[in-house]
Amino acid sequence: MRTWNTGAAWLRAAPAYRRAAAHANLRRMKSFLVANPKGGVGKSTLATNLAGYFAKSGRRVMLGDIDRQQSSREWLRIRPLAAPKIDTWDLDTDKPARPPKGTTHVVLDTPAGLHGKRLHQVLGMVDRVIVPLQPSLFDILATRDFLAALRGAKEMRNGIEIGIIGMRVDPRTRAAGELHRFLDHETLPVIGYLRDTQIYVQAAAHGLTLFDLPPSRAEKDLEQWQSLLAWIER
Ligand SMILES: Nc1ncnc2c1ncn2[C@@H]1O[C@H](COP(=O)(O)OP(=O)(O)O)[C@@H](O)[C@H]1O
Ligand SMILES: [Mg+2]
Repeated sequence: MRTWNTGAAWLRAAPAYRRAAAHANLRRMKSFLVANPKGGVGKSTLATNLAGYFAKSGRRVMLGDIDRQQSSREWLRIRPLAAPKIDTWDLDTDKPARPPKGTTHVVLDTPAGLHGKRLHQVLGMVDRVIVPLQPSLFDILATRDFLAALRGAKEMRNGIEIGIIGMRVDPRTRAAGELHRFLDHETLPVIGYLRDTQIYVQAAAHGLTLFDLPPSRAEKDLEQWQSLLAWIER
């Protein structure tokens, strides 16, 4: 993980928005971008649950939302006060990202169609990119192009890592087989598969995540998260 440290050589050579972000927080901070140009693939679901995991494990987490729909931000508004705290901050990709001092983890939710200048700007803010992918031909095709664009981005030279997650995968379907075949040809790591379940939908409706539910209710899904969390925590 990169440190957001003012003394580092990479920072002196970094663009202004990254310098500003680093000055805003001198502590070690891990930052994750959840992105895929397709809509409805589970970006907001993944981003909110990831933030929920960090909050539950006692981290000071900020959930940023650059999606015009502001799904993650709206979700935060209905999150119960008693649930482990997740904060947000004003985030505009045209201005420097300034997560407040003391933040240990940042999760950024992004809109569909993220590409070009905006993609490069948000890549400049993060250490890792998580790409949720659903098992359908159109999703696979769109994601393949997106992964190629990511790989070619100059920001990747800063050591940003990419992880892919198969979303709403029913291992018994032919579509799941196609997804597996596609991912077999990818050189990027597949960090996990999450099944299609109403648990995510129901939890979200109450401002909650898997990690806020009694473990017995989400046992199977918490198990599916283990490989993902191992990648996130290393
Ligand atoms: N693993 C899942 N199982 C069931 N429903 C899911 C799952 N992941 C996402 N969904 C649902 O699919 C829809 C789209 O997900 P969302 O996270 O909003 O996608 P995006 O942010 O990429 O547009 C939402 O209604 C969400 O609740
Ligand atoms: Mg969304």
